[in-house]
Amino acid sequence: MAQTVTMVICLFFNLLSLPFLPCIALMSSGFSLKLIHRDSPHSPLYQPNLFDFERFKKNIKISEARASYFQQLSELMGKGDSKTPQNESFRLPLKYHEPLFTVELGLGTPVVKRTLIFDTGSGLTWTQCKPCIRCFKQDQPLFEIRKSGSFRFMSKKNKLAKSFICNMLGCVYYVQYYSGQFSAGVASEENFTFQTTAGVFRRVPGLVFGCGMTNQGSFGSTNAVSGIFGMDKQPVSFIRQLGGLIKERFSYCLPAIDSNTKESYLRFGEEAMIRGTNAQSTPFLKTKRSAVFYGLNLSDITIGGQKLGLKQGTFPEGCIIDSGSSVSLLNRKAFSAVKNSFERYFSKFKNVKRLVRKKTPAGFLCYTHPTGLKNFPNLTFHFQGADFHVPSVNLFMYERKFFCVAMVESKNVTILGAYQQQNVRILYDLKDEMLSFAPEDCSKDAA
Ligand SMILES: *[C@@H]1O[C@H](CO)[C@@H](O)[C@H](O)[C@H]1NC(C)=O
Ligand SMILES: *[C@@H]1O[C@H](CO)[C@@H](O)[C@H](O)[C@H]1NC(C)=O
Ligand SMILES: *[C@@H]1O[C@H](CO)[C@@H](O)[C@H](O)[C@H]1NC(C)=O
Ligand SMILES: *[C@@H]1O[C@H](CO)[C@@H](O)[C@H](O)[C@H]1NC(C)=O
Ligand SMILES: *[C@@H]1O[C@H](CO)[C@@H](O)[C@H](O)[C@H]1NC(C)=O
Repeated sequence: MAQTVTMVICLFFNLLSLPFLPCIALMSSGFSLKLIHRDSPHSPLYQPNLFDFERFKKNIKISEARASYFQQLSELMGKGDSKTPQNESFRLPLKYHEPLFTVELGLGTPVVKRTLIFDTGSGLTWTQCKPCIRCFKQDQPLFEIRKSGSFRFMSKKNKLAKSFICNMLGCVYYVQYYSGQFSAGVASEENFTFQTTAGVFRRVPGLVFGCGMTNQGSFGSTNAVSGIFGMDKQPVSFIRQLGGLIKERFSYCLPAIDSNTKESYLRFGEEAMIRGTNAQSTPFLKTKRSAVFYGLNLSDITIGGQKLGLKQGTFPEGCIIDSGSSVSLLNRKAFSAVKNSFERYFSKFKNVKRLVRKKTPAGFLCYTHPTGLKNFPNLTFHFQGADFHVPSVNLFMYERKFFCVAMVESKNVTILGAYQQQNVRILYDLKDEMLSFAPEDCSKDAA
């Protein structure tokens, strides 16, 4: 009801030719986007004939590609030059990157629908545009700049211009991905339309995005994706651009992978909040290397009530929270300690045996699954000032005959992945530079 009133007020403002911005600021209610997991039948990326285990293995590849991406990004950031990543080679693991989550939003006037990869690991939002010199295949028609009444080339006077390569003619971007994929084009401004969960549309004018005119890439096994929705910490990212309008915060709540609900919402502004009273908060790391991504200060891990006692400095770059990795990844030192702890834990059960065979993914810690086994341990990530509790349902992937720890080893990057974030409300607050979280039944994350 309130939404309808708001819409009427907005229409009224529009009729008076007042800019939309104050209208949105006036209602300051926030908005949300539907987040669709790739395993959801509603996802354009859904592959109906994959067994769950196949899906599981595919998800591992996604996670490993993410680790490699963050590693390269981190090395890039650590080099200490002042170039922004768009200007440098900015990498995203598209080769194995079956995007985990997509969002749908509207672009231009008249509004056309775009399906973009939701990525907390990249900055600039871009979509393929016509005229196109070179475009990869996509189901949605290319975005035609001549057909949109609200399209503008970004002005060199725009405060984001320093994130681009500008000359007399205008500003361009070039985003390079590490397996040869890239997107290059013109820095542009458009009116974006976000469909709220109540079915109301909110238009946000003049957001800077990349109009990709030379693109090469593969975005998974379908042609559903038309680009990337960037939500990292860079100035060009949507969270930064929407800024005060959405109180510099967003949240999501990922439903259990095996629940019927595989859709949730990416919520902005006032919609992004934690309802329960048991929320915990931890600051984002402020190191040079985590200027772009969401790093958290991780100090130790507890498994089944036993603290591992990891040495200080085990996570020199902290732990990146990422919705684009399915399972978590732990650097070598931490993984080895975690592995020993699970080995000790399960050695107490006579009917639980370590499983090493071809059918289980390489590097995975899998065990036989006797019927009726109930004593699965839980795990806690000890962040600065906050304990992130991972109940056993989010810790193991269960098959009828075996189960595996849903965490893998990586060279040196540590990532808190989506599987461990199931049924937790996660709030990213860039103003206070804090991540907050609390358990929640995400299947009830209704409109
Ligand atoms: C981006 O690259 C261009 C051309 O290589 C350079 O002139 C400009 O200074 C760079 N911008 C930044 C912010 O580093
Ligand atoms: C795009 O948004 C701007 C700013 O609110 C507005 O003035 C303009 O009318 C919009 N363009 C179209 C074609 O709706
Ligand atoms: C985690 O497991 C330990 C040991 O079994 C148990 O004491 C503790 O209550 C569990 N924590 C939660 C939050 O369930
Ligand atoms: C990380 O947190 C610990 C306390 O848990 C603190 O001693 C340390 O200074 C923090 N590191 C950084 C880089 O903030
Ligand atoms: C990652 O590990 C490699 C070797 O395993 C090392 O050379 C490199 O410096 C590490 N990178 C970081 C950022 O710690």
